[in-house]
Amino acid sequence: MDPADELNAEMVRYYSARAPEYDEWYLRSDRYVHAEADGAAWNADLDRAVRWLADIPMGHDIVELAAGTGWWSQHLARKGPLTLRDISPEMLELARQRLQGLGLTARSELRDAWAEPDRQVSGLFTGFWLSHVSRERLPDFLSIANRWLKPGAEFAFMDSRRDPASGAIDHQPPAEEVQLRRLNDGRTFRVRKIYYSASELEDALADAGFVDARVEVTERFFLLGHAKHA
Ligand SMILES: C[S@@+](CC[C@H](N)C(=O)[O-])C[C@H]1O[C@@H](n2cnc3c(N)ncnc32)[C@H](O)[C@@H]1O
Repeated sequence: MDPADELNAEMVRYYSARAPEYDEWYLRSDRYVHAEADGAAWNADLDRAVRWLADIPMGHDIVELAAGTGWWSQHLARKGPLTLRDISPEMLELARQRLQGLGLTARSELRDAWAEPDRQVSGLFTGFWLSHVSRERLPDFLSIANRWLKPGAEFAFMDSRRDPASGAIDHQPPAEEVQLRRLNDGRTFRVRKIYYSASELEDALADAGFVDARVEVTERFFLLGHAKHA
């Protein structure tokens, strides 16, 4: 992370503080309960994302950056040996507990997603991370992602589409690239959130040297993308 970037530092503080309540977003509980139809649509999109990830070949050395509470790590760890990284110790601890509870293992490393790769792997995954990377820095991050991979290896990611029923009920509908996010205890933090389009990401992946980039959208909430190292 660029230490001069106060917005990134605020986001790191936000996610560390949000860690114990983060899964409420996936579970559509507490402040994330919207209309019943929105909840059903969310769960359908989430099921599609799980099926999509199951079909992506990731090989036998998988790295997940900005892994959070390990919501996706549980699926990745079933595909092959997994190393998960996050900058927040609180997030990593919750991911560790989740995997342990499921009888799964992974190596966890407290590391910045912007750190230079320390090896080349067979699969790289990021969940809901690219939307926190600014447009200016997206080429840099995708080039780091590319450097993580062996030839032919796969980068897979999920991210958010703009939908008013995605966030908490007391958040403003997503409009700006910097959102004010509230926690259950009322504390607020500024967070960068960019709703990239599928075609914008496909182009950026090709520019970063990836091949076979394909980004699809679920009905309402998610982008599902993958591309190969040439
Ligand atoms: C939106 S959450 C996504 C968590 C998880 N990937 C998922 O899909 O549920 C963003 C994650 O990025 C982490 N994070 C924020 N800045 C980071 C950085 N510079 N390097 C690594 N992780 C970072 C946060 O701690 C948080 O766990």
